[in-house]
Amino acid sequence: MDVKKAEFIKSAVKPKDFPPAELPEVAFVGRSNVGKSSLINVLANRKALVRTSSTPGRTQLINFFDINSILTLVDLPGYGYAKAPPDVRKQWGPMIETYLAKRENLKTVVLILDIRRIPSDGDLEMLRWLEMYNIPPIIVLTKCDKLSKLERARQTALIATAIKREKTMMLPFSALSRDGRDGIWQEIERLLGL
Ligand code: GTP
Ligand code: MG
Repeated sequence: MDVKKAEFIKSAVKPKDFPPAELPEVAFVGRSNVGKSSLINVLANRKALVRTSSTPGRTQLINFFDINSILTLVDLPGYGYAKAPPDVRKQWGPMIETYLAKRENLKTVVLILDIRRIPSDGDLEMLRWLEMYNIPPIIVLTKCDKLSKLERARQTALIATAIKREKTMMLPFSALSRDGRDGIWQEIERLLGL
């Protein structure tokens, strides 16, 4: 994707505040601090379109971004951050599930996993939700720069076993080196029919 325009549209919590469901949409999910916002910045070729942070729980609302006026990228708040304020944690489940269940222009969800870690219960539950709502996932293994080639291969095999979805493609990525960016765009464009 040759990104000519990347613009923040708005933040929202409730469907009534979402932007009109006119363009095909791609949402990004994963545990808190896994690198969702960093991945969106790399895809959009922008350093700071989305705020990133070394503090988990930075993204607490659903954030919509316009790309070239042909699709929307959606940064969802991460899960599994134990120190998040109780009201934020309580709001998370219903907010995300409503979005996934009701958003009619949602074409695919990019589930981001840290290549160094075995998927959490939250990750597995997210995969079950996506299956339940018939949303095809794109699984991205991020922070690849932190491992050697050999360790990457070993971790990829372990993660594939843990998620029990041998047929789902897993795409390696690094926000640091930007390796994997083009492959992720290709998969998004394929699923959106662009
Ligand atoms: P929340 O919004 O808090 O859920 O986090 P997030 O998933 O949006 O993560 P974010 O993109 O803010 O990144 C979290 C931290 O991980 C930041 O310090 C990033 O610089 C770092 N990070 C993200 N991606 C990579 C990567 O590919 N490699 C390395 N080395 N660090 C990364
Ligand atoms: Mg974020």
